[in-house]
Amino acid sequence: MKLASHMHRALLNWYAKHARVLPWRKNVDPYRIWISEIMLQQTRVETVLPYYERFLTHFPNVQALADANPDTLTSLWAGLGYYSRARNLQTAAKDIVARFGGTMPSTKEELQSLKGIGDYTAAAIASIAFGQNEIALDGNLERVLSRVLAFTGDPKSKEGRTVLRGFGEKLVALGNASAVNQGLMDLSSQVCGIKNPKCGECPLVDFCEGRKQNLLAQIPFKKAKTAAIELNSHGLLLLCEPERGEKSLLLARRKTGDWLAGLWDLPWWLSDEAPAPKKTVKFGEHKSIRTITKHKIQYNVHFHRSSTELQRAELENFLPDCAAEFRWQPLTKLDQVNLPKPSEKALAQALKGI
Ligand code: ADE
Repeated sequence: MKLASHMHRALLNWYAKHARVLPWRKNVDPYRIWISEIMLQQTRVETVLPYYERFLTHFPNVQALADANPDTLTSLWAGLGYYSRARNLQTAAKDIVARFGGTMPSTKEELQSLKGIGDYTAAAIASIAFGQNEIALDGNLERVLSRVLAFTGDPKSKEGRTVLRGFGEKLVALGNASAVNQGLMDLSSQVCGIKNPKCGECPLVDFCEGRKQNLLAQIPFKKAKTAAIELNSHGLLLLCEPERGEKSLLLARRKTGDWLAGLWDLPWWLSDEAPAPKKTVKFGEHKSIRTITKHKIQYNVHFHRSSTELQRAELENFLPDCAAEFRWQPLTKLDQVNLPKPSEKALAQALKGI
Protein backbone atom coordinates (compact mmCIF):
# COMPACT_ATOMS: atom_id res chain seq x y z
CA MET A 1 0.00 0.00 0.00
CA LYS A 2 2.93 2.28 0.72
CA LEU A 3 4.04 2.31 -2.90
CA ALA A 4 0.51 3.09 -4.09
CA SER A 5 0.05 5.98 -1.68
CA HIS A 6 3.47 7.52 -2.42
CA MET A 7 2.85 7.21 -6.09
CA HIS A 8 -0.68 8.61 -5.79
CA ARG A 9 0.60 11.74 -4.05
CA ALA A 10 3.49 12.28 -6.46
CA LEU A 11 1.30 11.72 -9.51
CA LEU A 12 -1.44 14.10 -8.39
CA ASN A 13 1.08 16.82 -7.50
CA TRP A 14 2.67 16.45 -10.89
CA TYR A 15 -0.70 16.48 -12.69
CA ALA A 16 -1.78 19.63 -10.84
CA LYS A 17 1.24 21.42 -12.36
CA HIS A 18 1.62 19.71 -15.72
CA ALA A 19 -1.86 18.70 -16.91
CA ARG A 20 -2.23 19.38 -20.61
CA VAL A 21 -4.85 21.99 -21.45
CA LEU A 22 -7.28 20.02 -23.60
CA PRO A 23 -10.78 20.97 -24.78
CA TRP A 24 -12.47 17.98 -23.11
CA ARG A 25 -11.03 19.07 -19.79
CA LYS A 26 -12.91 22.40 -19.77
CA ASN A 27 -15.76 20.84 -17.81
CA VAL A 28 -17.08 17.41 -16.86
CA ASP A 29 -20.01 17.22 -19.26
CA PRO A 30 -20.30 13.42 -19.75
CA TYR A 31 -21.35 13.83 -23.37
CA ARG A 32 -18.21 15.85 -24.25
CA ILE A 33 -16.06 13.37 -22.40
CA TRP A 34 -17.66 10.41 -24.14
CA ILE A 35 -17.02 11.97 -27.57
CA SER A 36 -13.39 12.71 -26.66
CA GLU A 37 -12.78 9.18 -25.44
CA ILE A 38 -14.20 7.64 -28.61
CA MET A 39 -12.16 9.98 -30.84
CA LEU A 40 -9.05 9.20 -28.78
CA GLN A 41 -9.42 5.44 -29.27
CA GLN A 42 -6.62 4.57 -31.75
CA THR A 43 -6.04 8.27 -32.52
CA ARG A 44 -3.50 10.72 -31.11
CA VAL A 45 -4.52 13.82 -29.16
CA GLU A 46 -2.97 16.17 -31.78
CA THR A 47 -4.99 14.52 -34.55
CA VAL A 48 -8.25 14.67 -32.60
CA LEU A 49 -8.04 18.38 -31.67
CA PRO A 50 -9.29 19.95 -34.94
CA TYR A 51 -12.15 17.45 -35.21
CA TYR A 52 -13.41 17.66 -31.67
CA GLU A 53 -14.99 21.13 -31.43
CA ARG A 54 -16.32 20.95 -34.98
CA PHE A 55 -18.10 17.70 -34.14
CA LEU A 56 -19.57 19.19 -30.95
CA THR A 57 -20.74 22.29 -32.79
CA HIS A 58 -22.73 20.07 -35.16
CA PHE A 59 -23.89 17.61 -32.51
CA PRO A 60 -23.89 19.41 -29.14
CA ASN A 61 -25.77 16.74 -27.19
CA VAL A 62 -26.98 13.15 -27.19
CA GLN A 63 -30.27 13.98 -28.91
CA ALA A 64 -28.55 15.88 -31.74
CA LEU A 65 -26.23 12.93 -32.31
CA ALA A 66 -29.12 10.46 -32.25
CA ASP A 67 -30.92 12.59 -34.88
CA ALA A 68 -27.81 13.21 -37.03
CA ASN A 69 -27.88 12.64 -40.75
CA PRO A 70 -25.52 9.63 -41.17
CA ASP A 71 -23.81 11.26 -44.17
CA THR A 72 -23.05 14.44 -42.21
CA LEU A 73 -21.77 12.29 -39.38
CA THR A 74 -19.48 10.30 -41.66
CA SER A 75 -18.18 13.41 -43.35
CA LEU A 76 -17.37 15.08 -40.01
CA TRP A 77 -15.46 11.93 -39.10
CA ALA A 78 -13.57 11.72 -42.40
CA GLY A 79 -9.85 11.91 -41.69
CA LEU A 80 -10.08 10.44 -38.19
CA GLY A 81 -10.29 6.90 -39.52
CA TYR A 82 -11.92 3.82 -37.97
CA TYR A 83 -15.36 4.97 -39.08
CA SER A 84 -17.19 2.25 -37.20
CA ARG A 85 -16.56 4.47 -34.18
CA ALA A 86 -18.84 7.15 -35.66
CA ARG A 87 -21.57 4.65 -36.52
CA ASN A 88 -21.36 3.13 -33.05
CA LEU A 89 -21.60 6.60 -31.49
CA GLN A 90 -24.91 7.18 -33.21
CA THR A 91 -26.23 3.73 -32.29
CA ALA A 92 -25.27 4.40 -28.67
CA ALA A 93 -26.85 7.89 -28.74
CA LYS A 94 -30.16 6.40 -29.91
CA ASP A 95 -29.87 3.80 -27.16
CA ILE A 96 -29.24 6.50 -24.53
CA VAL A 97 -32.38 8.32 -25.72
CA ALA A 98 -34.42 5.10 -25.65
CA ARG A 99 -33.15 3.57 -22.41
CA PHE A 100 -31.91 6.52 -20.33
CA GLY A 101 -34.15 9.39 -21.48
CA GLY A 102 -31.24 11.09 -23.30
CA THR A 103 -29.04 11.38 -20.18
CA MET A 104 -25.68 9.62 -20.19
CA PRO A 105 -25.64 6.75 -17.68
CA SER A 106 -23.05 7.05 -14.93
CA THR A 107 -21.93 3.56 -13.97
CA LYS A 108 -19.21 1.60 -15.69
CA GLU A 109 -21.62 -1.29 -16.19
CA GLU A 110 -24.32 0.81 -17.85
CA LEU A 111 -21.75 2.62 -19.98
CA GLN A 112 -20.35 -0.70 -21.15
CA SER A 113 -23.79 -1.78 -22.28
CA LEU A 114 -23.57 0.88 -25.02
CA LYS A 115 -22.18 0.19 -28.47
CA GLY A 116 -18.53 1.15 -28.89
CA ILE A 117 -17.82 1.46 -25.16
CA GLY A 118 -15.52 -1.22 -23.80
CA ASP A 119 -13.85 -1.64 -20.44
CA TYR A 120 -11.28 1.14 -20.90
CA THR A 121 -13.68 3.76 -22.29
CA ALA A 122 -16.35 3.00 -19.68
CA ALA A 123 -13.79 3.42 -16.90
CA ALA A 124 -12.48 6.67 -18.44
CA ILE A 125 -15.98 8.20 -18.68
CA ALA A 126 -17.07 6.92 -15.25
CA SER A 127 -13.98 8.36 -13.57
CA ILE A 128 -13.57 11.64 -15.50
CA ALA A 129 -17.23 12.62 -15.83
CA PHE A 130 -18.70 11.00 -12.71
CA GLY A 131 -15.73 10.79 -10.31
CA GLN A 132 -16.01 7.05 -9.84
CA ASN A 133 -13.08 4.96 -8.64
CA GLU A 134 -12.37 3.17 -11.91
CA ILE A 135 -8.98 2.62 -13.48
CA ALA A 136 -8.88 3.25 -17.24
CA LEU A 137 -6.25 0.74 -18.21
CA ASP A 138 -5.10 1.03 -21.80
CA GLY A 139 -1.75 0.22 -23.41
CA ASN A 140 -0.23 3.50 -22.21
CA LEU A 141 -1.19 3.00 -18.58
CA GLU A 142 -0.09 -0.62 -18.78
CA ARG A 143 3.34 0.59 -19.87
CA VAL A 144 3.72 3.10 -17.03
CA LEU A 145 2.45 0.71 -14.37
CA SER A 146 4.55 -2.19 -15.76
CA ARG A 147 7.62 0.03 -15.51
CA VAL A 148 6.91 1.23 -11.99
CA LEU A 149 6.33 -2.38 -10.87
CA ALA A 150 9.14 -3.87 -13.05
CA PHE A 151 6.57 -6.21 -14.59
CA THR A 152 8.16 -7.56 -17.81
CA GLY A 153 5.42 -10.03 -18.78
CA ASP A 154 2.49 -9.60 -21.14
CA PRO A 155 0.00 -7.08 -19.65
CA LYS A 156 -2.80 -8.96 -21.43
CA SER A 157 -1.93 -12.28 -19.78
CA LYS A 158 -3.88 -13.44 -16.75
CA GLU A 159 -0.97 -12.53 -14.49
CA GLY A 160 -0.51 -9.17 -16.21
CA ARG A 161 -4.15 -8.24 -15.80
CA THR A 162 -4.14 -9.23 -12.15
CA VAL A 163 -0.94 -7.36 -11.30
CA LEU A 164 -1.60 -4.18 -13.26
CA ARG A 165 -5.33 -3.86 -12.68
CA GLY A 166 -4.85 -4.71 -9.04
CA PHE A 167 -2.31 -1.92 -8.65
CA GLY A 168 -4.39 0.53 -10.72
CA GLU A 169 -7.40 -0.17 -8.51
CA LYS A 170 -5.36 0.60 -5.41
CA LEU A 171 -4.37 3.94 -6.95
CA VAL A 172 -7.92 5.03 -7.79
CA ALA A 173 -9.21 3.83 -4.41
CA LEU A 174 -6.97 6.51 -2.86
CA GLY A 175 -9.15 9.20 -4.44
CA ASN A 176 -9.54 11.51 -7.44
CA ALA A 177 -9.68 8.77 -10.06
CA SER A 178 -10.11 11.37 -12.80
CA ALA A 179 -6.72 12.93 -12.01
CA VAL A 180 -5.13 9.52 -11.49
CA ASN A 181 -6.22 8.32 -14.92
CA GLN A 182 -5.58 11.56 -16.77
CA GLY A 183 -2.31 12.11 -14.88
CA LEU A 184 -1.13 8.68 -16.00
CA MET A 185 -2.29 9.40 -19.56
CA ASP A 186 -0.30 12.66 -19.63
CA LEU A 187 2.69 11.06 -17.98
CA SER A 188 2.66 8.24 -20.54
CA SER A 189 2.61 10.62 -23.48
CA GLN A 190 4.79 13.46 -22.14
CA VAL A 191 7.39 11.64 -20.04
CA CYS A 192 7.18 7.84 -20.02
CA GLY A 193 7.12 7.27 -23.79
CA ILE A 194 7.78 3.92 -25.42
CA LYS A 195 11.26 5.01 -26.46
CA ASN A 196 13.64 7.19 -24.46
CA PRO A 197 11.58 7.75 -21.31
CA LYS A 198 12.53 11.08 -19.72
CA CYS A 199 13.20 9.74 -16.24
CA GLY A 200 14.80 13.04 -15.20
CA GLU A 201 11.37 14.69 -15.51
CA CYS A 202 9.35 11.87 -13.98
CA PRO A 203 7.57 12.37 -10.64
CA LEU A 204 7.66 8.60 -10.09
CA VAL A 205 11.41 8.15 -10.59
CA ASP A 206 12.12 7.51 -6.92
CA PHE A 207 9.82 4.49 -6.78
CA CYS A 208 10.22 3.13 -10.30
CA GLU A 209 11.42 -0.45 -9.90
CA GLY A 210 11.79 -0.88 -13.67
CA ARG A 211 14.34 1.91 -13.77
CA LYS A 212 16.16 0.65 -10.68
CA GLN A 213 16.46 -2.79 -12.25
CA ASN A 214 17.41 -1.38 -15.67
CA LEU A 215 14.37 -2.96 -17.35
CA LEU A 216 12.86 0.04 -19.15
CA ALA A 217 13.94 -1.09 -22.61
CA GLN A 218 12.15 -4.42 -22.08
CA ILE A 219 8.85 -2.72 -21.19
CA PRO A 220 6.42 -2.52 -22.98
CA PHE A 221 6.42 -6.24 -23.58
CA LYS A 222 6.59 -7.09 -27.28
CA LYS A 223 4.49 -9.91 -28.69
CA ALA A 224 5.71 -11.77 -31.79
CA LYS A 225 3.94 -10.04 -34.70
CA THR A 226 1.81 -11.83 -37.28
CA ALA A 227 2.43 -10.66 -40.85
CA ALA A 228 0.01 -8.05 -42.23
CA ILE A 229 -2.13 -8.95 -45.24
CA GLU A 230 -0.91 -6.83 -48.14
CA LEU A 231 -3.47 -5.33 -50.50
CA ASN A 232 -3.14 -3.14 -53.53
CA SER A 233 -5.62 -0.41 -54.33
CA HIS A 234 -6.09 2.38 -56.83
CA GLY A 235 -7.77 5.73 -56.74
CA LEU A 236 -8.57 8.08 -59.59
CA LEU A 237 -8.09 11.80 -59.08
CA LEU A 238 -9.81 13.23 -62.11
CA LEU A 239 -9.80 16.99 -62.54
CA CYS A 240 -12.01 18.60 -65.10
CA GLU A 241 -10.40 21.70 -66.57
CA PRO A 242 -12.76 23.17 -69.17
CA GLU A 243 -11.56 25.96 -71.45
CA ARG A 244 -14.11 28.21 -69.86
CA GLY A 245 -15.89 27.83 -66.55
CA GLU A 246 -15.08 26.27 -63.24
CA LYS A 247 -12.60 23.49 -62.60
CA SER A 248 -13.98 20.50 -60.73
CA LEU A 249 -12.98 17.22 -59.12
CA LEU A 250 -14.70 13.86 -59.59
CA LEU A 251 -16.06 12.39 -56.36
CA ALA A 252 -17.59 8.96 -55.85
CA ARG A 253 -19.89 7.78 -53.13
CA ARG A 254 -18.98 4.40 -51.65
CA LYS A 255 -21.47 1.63 -52.24
CA THR A 256 -23.64 0.09 -49.53
CA GLY A 257 -21.85 -2.88 -48.04
CA ASP A 258 -18.41 -1.54 -49.00
CA TRP A 259 -15.88 -0.36 -46.50
CA LEU A 260 -16.85 3.21 -45.43
CA ALA A 261 -20.19 2.92 -47.25
CA GLY A 262 -21.85 6.24 -48.02
CA LEU A 263 -18.68 8.31 -47.82
CA TRP A 264 -17.82 10.72 -50.63
CA ASP A 265 -14.22 10.12 -51.69
CA LEU A 266 -12.13 9.78 -54.83
CA PRO A 267 -13.22 6.72 -56.82
CA TRP A 268 -11.27 3.96 -55.11
CA TRP A 269 -11.06 0.19 -55.53
CA LEU A 270 -9.01 -2.82 -54.45
CA SER A 271 -7.16 -4.32 -57.39
CA ASP A 272 -3.74 -4.88 -58.93
CA GLU A 273 -5.00 -3.18 -62.10
CA ALA A 274 -4.44 0.55 -62.57
CA PRO A 275 -7.22 2.44 -64.39
CA ALA A 276 -6.83 3.50 -68.01
CA PRO A 277 -9.23 6.44 -68.23
CA LYS A 278 -10.35 7.43 -71.72
CA LYS A 279 -10.59 11.09 -72.86
CA THR A 280 -8.14 12.11 -70.14
CA VAL A 281 -4.45 12.95 -69.78
CA LYS A 282 -2.32 11.64 -66.94
CA PHE A 283 -0.34 14.28 -65.03
CA GLY A 284 1.02 12.50 -61.96
CA GLU A 285 0.43 10.08 -59.16
CA HIS A 286 0.67 9.73 -55.41
CA LYS A 287 1.48 6.58 -53.47
CA SER A 288 0.92 5.95 -49.81
CA ILE A 289 0.65 3.01 -47.48
CA ARG A 290 -2.00 2.64 -44.81
CA THR A 291 -2.21 -0.01 -42.17
CA ILE A 292 -5.76 -0.75 -41.13
CA THR A 293 -5.98 -3.42 -38.46
CA LYS A 294 -4.51 -6.53 -40.16
CA HIS A 295 -4.23 -5.02 -43.62
CA LYS A 296 -1.38 -3.12 -45.18
CA ILE A 297 -2.87 -1.26 -48.11
CA GLN A 298 -0.81 0.25 -50.89
CA TYR A 299 -2.84 3.19 -52.17
CA ASN A 300 -1.97 4.43 -55.66
CA VAL A 301 -3.77 7.58 -56.73
CA HIS A 302 -3.57 8.40 -60.43
CA PHE A 303 -3.89 12.06 -61.41
CA HIS A 304 -5.75 12.67 -64.70
CA ARG A 305 -7.31 15.71 -66.31
CA SER A 306 -10.14 15.99 -68.78
CA SER A 307 -11.75 18.93 -70.54
CA THR A 308 -15.34 17.87 -69.83
CA GLU A 309 -17.18 16.51 -66.84
CA LEU A 310 -17.47 12.85 -67.80
CA GLN A 311 -20.74 11.28 -66.70
CA ARG A 312 -21.49 7.88 -65.21
CA ALA A 313 -21.88 5.98 -68.50
CA GLU A 314 -18.49 7.22 -69.73
CA LEU A 315 -16.79 6.68 -66.37
CA GLU A 316 -18.04 3.11 -66.29
CA ASN A 317 -16.07 2.40 -69.47
CA PHE A 318 -12.86 2.47 -67.52
CA LEU A 319 -13.72 2.38 -63.82
CA PRO A 320 -14.67 -0.83 -62.03
CA ASP A 321 -18.07 -0.93 -60.36
CA CYS A 322 -16.78 1.12 -57.43
CA ALA A 323 -19.36 3.78 -56.65
CA ALA A 324 -23.03 4.24 -55.80
CA GLU A 325 -23.01 7.72 -57.34
CA PHE A 326 -20.62 10.23 -58.87
CA ARG A 327 -20.59 14.01 -58.67
CA TRP A 328 -18.35 16.82 -59.83
CA GLN A 329 -17.25 19.11 -57.02
CA PRO A 330 -16.14 22.65 -57.99
CA LEU A 331 -12.55 23.25 -56.80
CA THR A 332 -13.73 26.50 -55.22
CA LYS A 333 -16.00 24.43 -52.93
CA LEU A 334 -13.54 21.76 -51.82
CA ASP A 335 -13.83 23.00 -48.25
CA GLN A 336 -17.32 21.45 -48.22
CA VAL A 337 -15.96 17.92 -48.51
CA ASN A 338 -13.91 15.99 -46.00
CA LEU A 339 -11.87 13.37 -47.75
CA PRO A 340 -10.18 10.46 -45.95
CA LYS A 341 -6.53 11.23 -45.17
CA PRO A 342 -4.79 9.36 -48.05
CA SER A 343 -7.07 11.04 -50.60
CA GLU A 344 -6.61 14.43 -48.96
CA LYS A 345 -2.83 14.10 -49.18
CA ALA A 346 -3.00 13.01 -52.82
CA LEU A 347 -5.27 15.95 -53.64
CA ALA A 348 -2.95 18.44 -51.93
CA GLN A 349 -0.09 17.15 -54.11
CA ALA A 350 -2.16 17.21 -57.30
CA LEU A 351 -3.35 20.77 -56.69
CA LYS A 352 0.22 21.96 -56.18
CA GLY A 353 0.96 20.86 -59.70
CA ILE A 354 -1.86 22.71 -61.49
N1 ADE B 1 -6.39 9.71 -24.13
C1 ADE B 1 -7.56 9.13 -23.87
N2 ADE B 1 -8.29 9.88 -23.02
C2 ADE B 1 -7.56 10.98 -22.75
C3 ADE B 1 -7.76 12.12 -21.93
N3 ADE B 1 -8.89 12.28 -21.24
N4 ADE B 1 -6.78 13.03 -21.89
C4 ADE B 1 -5.66 12.84 -22.60
N5 ADE B 1 -5.41 11.80 -23.37
C5 ADE B 1 -6.35 10.87 -23.45
